[in-house]
Amino acid sequence: MNRPTRAHLRIFALAVALVASWPAIAGDVESPDGRIRFSLEIGYLGVPQYSISFDDETVVDTSKLGLRFKARAGFDRDVEIRAVERNEHDETWEQPWGERRTVRDHHNEALFVFAAISDPGRVFRLRVRVFNDGVGFRYEVPAQEHYDSVEIVDEMTEFHVPSGARAWWIPGRAWNRHEFLYRETGLHEIALANTPATMKLASGPYLSIHEAALVDYAGYVLDQRRDGVFRTNLTPWSDGARVKTVVPFVTPWRTIQISPDAVGLLNSSLILNLNEPNALGDVSWVEPGKYAGIWWAMHIEERTWGSGPRHGATTAETKRYIDFAAEHGFDGVLVEGWNIGWDGEWFNNGSAFRFAEPHPDFDFTAITEYAKKQSVRLVGHHETSGHITNYENQLQEALDLYESAGVCQVKTGYVADGGDLVRIDANGVPQYEWHDGQFAARHYLHVVREAAKRKISINTHEPIKDTGLRRTYPNWISREGARGQEFNAWGTPPNPPEHTAMLPFTRLLAGPMDFTPGIFDLMFDGPDSPQRVSTTLMKQLALYVVLYSPVQMVADLPENYERFPDAFQFIVDVPTDWEQSMALAGEIGDFVVYARQQRGADDWYLGALTDENARELQVAMTFLPDGVGYVATIYRDGDNAHWQDNPYDYVIEERTVTNKDTLELRLAAGGGAAIRFRPAEKAEQE
Ligand code: NOJ
Ligand code: CA
Repeated sequence: MNRPTRAHLRIFALAVALVASWPAIAGDVESPDGRIRFSLEIGYLGVPQYSISFDDETVVDTSKLGLRFKARAGFDRDVEIRAVERNEHDETWEQPWGERRTVRDHHNEALFVFAAISDPGRVFRLRVRVFNDGVGFRYEVPAQEHYDSVEIVDEMTEFHVPSGARAWWIPGRAWNRHEFLYRETGLHEIALANTPATMKLASGPYLSIHEAALVDYAGYVLDQRRDGVFRTNLTPWSDGARVKTVVPFVTPWRTIQISPDAVGLLNSSLILNLNEPNALGDVSWVEPGKYAGIWWAMHIEERTWGSGPRHGATTAETKRYIDFAAEHGFDGVLVEGWNIGWDGEWFNNGSAFRFAEPHPDFDFTAITEYAKKQSVRLVGHHETSGHITNYENQLQEALDLYESAGVCQVKTGYVADGGDLVRIDANGVPQYEWHDGQFAARHYLHVVREAAKRKISINTHEPIKDTGLRRTYPNWISREGARGQEFNAWGTPPNPPEHTAMLPFTRLLAGPMDFTPGIFDLMFDGPDSPQRVSTTLMKQLALYVVLYSPVQMVADLPENYERFPDAFQFIVDVPTDWEQSMALAGEIGDFVVYARQQRGADDWYLGALTDENARELQVAMTFLPDGVGYVATIYRDGDNAHWQDNPYDYVIEERTVTNKDTLELRLAAGGGAAIRFRPAEKAEQE
């Protein structure tokens, strides 16, 4: 063995000092109700670490913290705690639109200040907030003595989930971005998982692991490094760096929502509470609502995005959709395939898209004028095919065109495999980036900010994961980011009945989803085709209440609604903006029941849906106000309904109810129920 050098001896002495003081409990932070406790400690070799308990049971076991930097010492070991600042916060704030008008932000906070033992000038902080519904913490790196910018090569944050948990998750960093079917497995089957990832511990509680306020940083996937130990694996740039930043900087919040039952996760506002308040000022121009569109016709191959005899986005066809929207009071009409670039293999040819150049058979001015006269708005569409540079080069012009024509909402699209977003670098060389990396985080927010300057809202498809930025940028009105209805048109397999019973407990914990419900021609490809919608008709109605989005599509072709005008009435009536929302019952992937009160009105709506199993639910009407009689219009599966062979069997009936009543809801296999509640007095006058 070589003789120890001086440096070795110094390291040895340091290690002895650290071991002697290990493990010192450095600080606990409790939730206001005292049930959740976050504990910070310094472990072996000065590694910062934490654990979380709920009702005194461990829900996150000892987990490391830290950041590693390129060519500089990071903050993942050799640290000690210098100071702790504590705060309590209790505030109720208002959402301009949302699933609830008011949100309570009640938490206890601790700001832990760390310094490197070997270099006390090297300081970083960890801000921890503990709510009754979970925990958020983030790193805050202040100005440093020796440098003013840094490259993060790894974030060391772990979530050590106790063994025996079950998880609902989709693969992370994979080709189809977030558009996979959710899996229910034990922990051991996970390698990389996207967030939010939902877990049920053997001891009972449910967790959702995610992040909040992802700004100018890389999104992470959960990376199972050892049994049950998940590390934040930050999405890399094409050159391998994870995050390139100046100091000072703060990271997004790492979040763990905790609930004794699955429904509790649905009623949590933790992600929103950890985002910054509205940065846009007056946002009365952001308009929730419903929209029809030239969209499903392309997915079922009746029409084409590209030019030719079956081109969907013609002036005449658009006017037909505008008439349909106007007749039923819908706010917008989305038209895809209106611009140059769709001819040929558009999904591999993003550089061909022109965002201010309509196809010759789409008379942009005539259409926007026609819409305006009928109080309907054209919903803009920018499919980028993932060619970010091509889009950014045209962004100003493209948004200016829409602004000048009164278009106030644009759906964007980023169809490209994971890791295939195109960035043309300074030398003109294409580089390929991920949808959840720092480059993409910057791009998506850049579009939202540019749109805000023109009072335009953005509904992103193939988005970066949702981390609650709608609070800060209320014009980021919705997004996709999961398997939507479109998979029923061409997906292999189409979405199974359990899919929409899975989404609320997984993807929708991050925020609204533009799922595009409301397909009425369930077997559009003939009864023998595998390609179909695997629900009853009533379940399509329930989706409007269950899958929250402030913009909801009325997704089918207008003519398909004519077959069931009485069922269609629910889609006409249902609002998309809510005073309050309550998840009443549910289990992940099995069933879910939501009640929501219309924003600024006394009406309530209820949506219930089930997976492939029929079930009977007893739903207490306790959400209704005291002493008010309500007329409930109930849209329910018929007694013989079944998603597979009898999906159109339904019953619409009226009942008078109060909050003392309990309704028995029978949901067919793959079925659902939707209810509109109007105060009886108001209903009489109508
Ligand atoms: C993918 C979107 O999710 C879908 O809604 C859209 O029709 C296509 N891209 C084309 O833009
Ligand atoms: Ca999609």
